[in-house]
Amino acid sequence: MKQEHIVVVGSGGREAETVSQFHQSLLRDGRSNTIIDVLPGNGGTRWMELNGYQVRNHSIKAEDVAGVTKFAIEKQACVTFFGPEFPLVNGSADLLEDAGLAVFGPRMDLAIEGSKLRQKILMAKANIPTANYRAFTDCYVATNFVRNAPMPVVVKADGLCGGKGVEICRTFDAAASTLRSFMLDKIHGDAGSTVLVEEFLEGGNDMEVSVLVFCNGKGDYRILPCMQDHKPLLDGNKGPNTGGMGAWGPVFWVERYMHFIQKRIIEPMLEVLAQGGKHFRGCLYAGLMITPEGPKVVEWNIRPGDPELQPTLALLENDFLDLVWRCARGESLPALKFWDGFSVCVVLTAEGYGYPGGPAKNDVVTGIELAQNPPNVKIIHAGTIMDEQNRILTAGGRVVNVVARERTLIGAIEMANAAAAKIDFRGKHFRTDIGAAGLRVILQSAGVK
Ligand code: AMP
Ligand code: GLY
Repeated sequence: MKQEHIVVVGSGGREAETVSQFHQSLLRDGRSNTIIDVLPGNGGTRWMELNGYQVRNHSIKAEDVAGVTKFAIEKQACVTFFGPEFPLVNGSADLLEDAGLAVFGPRMDLAIEGSKLRQKILMAKANIPTANYRAFTDCYVATNFVRNAPMPVVVKADGLCGGKGVEICRTFDAAASTLRSFMLDKIHGDAGSTVLVEEFLEGGNDMEVSVLVFCNGKGDYRILPCMQDHKPLLDGNKGPNTGGMGAWGPVFWVERYMHFIQKRIIEPMLEVLAQGGKHFRGCLYAGLMITPEGPKVVEWNIRPGDPELQPTLALLENDFLDLVWRCARGESLPALKFWDGFSVCVVLTAEGYGYPGGPAKNDVVTGIELAQNPPNVKIIHAGTIMDEQNRILTAGGRVVNVVARERTLIGAIEMANAAAAKIDFRGKHFRTDIGAAGLRVILQSAGVK
């Protein structure tokens, strides 16, 4: 029988969990002639490969747009799943679609994560609630503007900066210095040539949530349960911002805003995106602040959140490969079913992650087997590699994800933290308060001060 290929692009926890889910689907359906090719994958997907799974790592990085395209076309991949935004913003989906292949991810003209200004213009057109802003290409003019602006202001580089292009500035001096570093020193290159100065949205970290929407490119879509990421490195939302230190959900108290979010935010965005003639395909991600005036958009991404996808998949009862497949191929989407409980994902990070200089690498990771406890606790590799002696080594800032699910939020939190404590590597760090915002809401509604 002819061999079939599914390509997964990326190397983080989001991609490793996607591979794991796809593998389970292939097993369930008896599709022994399908290989999951991961570009480039991590230590976890390499472990799968060595342990008889239908998974292969290939040393092609997600940023290598030409390499990814060539590979998927050569293999005639029946579906290509993109985790990170970079290849999508740089036209990977266009190249594959034009070659007749099915892709999970939008074409370049709908890859709006590449420009925060474009997002703002689209939101204004669709009357979507978001922070007021001004855009600047001249540092002198921008600095003059912030001199009279009420503090704090949020300074954002327009283009992709790997999560480093946003600064919340509490004083004029901080804002002026950020503008200088973005626009004159060009610390983010051309991504900072245009800068947005935004109004600071009230709410705080406890009120920030992520909504993922899976879209089939034909106008049909499904909204997944709302998740809460934790960007700051340290407990209590202290320390520098990161790509995400953990996520939990469903964020039950957002339920009462979901109709508003769907009708005033998600649908208008999908409609305005479709005005160019093509519907969005893949995962549209709305980063929202639930402000005292209601939900407002902080940012749009064009791919599943990492780590938000991992706790979401712990609750999803549908077949994930089938969902991705249908989105990529423009087929009708099923009603989604979710396990009735909570999931919590705790991210274990390497020494130095979140600080200039970058994370430590090549430290041996132990305890993964010990911490696994299916079906309630799953350990997902992120920034890991496997060396020649088959040891797992740290290879990135976010090293491992621990995902636990339980009927109660407190149960899931305790289970995730207990499992995280069993994994070890030099300089290991994790936040112990992932999900605590949910507990605070439960206690408040029970009248506990
Ligand atoms: P972004 O890279 O756009 O996700 O921004 C990083 C983080 O900065 C967000 O997750 C928010 O916590 C915060 N942030 C961004 N824009 C605003 C805003 N206008 N008001 C308050 N916080 C913001
Ligand atoms: N966890 C935030 C993101 O994926 O952008």
